Amino acid sequence: MQSQESPSELLSSEPILRVEGVAKSFPKRQSGGKEEIIKVLEDVNFELKGGSFTSIIGPSGCGKTTLLRIVDGLLKPDAGRVIFNGEVVTTPPTRMGFVFQQFGLLPWRSVLKNVEFGLELRGTDPEERKEIAQKYIDIVGLRGYENNYVHEISAGMQQRVGLARALSIDPDVLLMDEPFASIDMQTREILQRQLLQIVKASVPKTTLFVTHNVDEAVYLSDEILLLGTHPAKVREVVKVELPPKRWTYDLRSQQEYTRLRQKIWKFLEKEIMERGGFGSFDPQEP
Ligand SMILES: Nc1ncnc2c1ncn2[C@@H]1O[C@H](COP(=O)(O)OP(=O)(O)O)[C@@H](O)[C@H]1O
Ligand SMILES: [Mg+2]
Repeated sequence: MQSQESPSELLSSEPILRVEGVAKSFPKRQSGGKEEIIKVLEDVNFELKGGSFTSIIGPSGCGKTTLLRIVDGLLKPDAGRVIFNGEVVTTPPTRMGFVFQQFGLLPWRSVLKNVEFGLELRGTDPEERKEIAQKYIDIVGLRGYENNYVHEISAGMQQRVGLARALSIDPDVLLMDEPFASIDMQTREILQRQLLQIVKASVPKTTLFVTHNVDEAVYLSDEILLLGTHPAKVREVVKVELPPKRWTYDLRSQQEYTRLRQKIWKFLEKEIMERGGFGSFDPQEP
């Protein structure tokens, strides 16, 4: 059964994180030893409302990972700033959790020890650490695999370990960089559903999710930031006015889902065709 609550009613109006006028350039090596400066991000602005699920979508290579690295304080912007919980981010904040595309797990550690890792770095005592790690292993559905090594479990399970590890530090914001990009399609759909159930119900979180996958963005998000390329900038914020608790029914057959999917796909296609070096190729031509 679908809930009657509107998704926006469930969100706090106070932004928990704000990105203001962020710019970043990188040197690109030319032949003959010359360097050209490439502007990757320019005047990027957005905010995350508490409890929201926000996706950033943009073509590959447009600067999504660069933007996330700036948000989490690992990379310094050339201009602008990130404000998190009322403070300017200069180093990685302790209350941010991160899930990577390549999982970032330690192969010589068991599932349990991987989930404990972030707590270990924070100096949590061993007993408490184990208890917290077990709680999140249960939440992501990996009970029984605590003692397995990373190579003994599937890619989908490895990413659930990555999620459990990020959640175990009880972050105020969860940053996810294309976490399901290297996972097969059937598993990915299951993981998407599970992720939504976790961050919207089991352990509510504010989530910033980077993807280049349109279906994934529409299915998961309250808001989608459309990132243009060369340089990347937020061109439009798309509000996804679909009912919450989306993991409980088939959202993909809804008309609004199809409309949003087409709208975002058109945007991406235009960005890639106009700026992605495809010349005058017309996708409409036979
Ligand atoms: N440390 C770096 N030095 C030079 N160029 C970089 C560096 N990091 C990223 N870039 C360039 O910035 C652009 C955006 O990269 P990235 O943020 O990884 O894109 P996305 O995550 O959207 O695929 C790419 O052209 C990439 O080559
Ligand atoms: Mg990337």
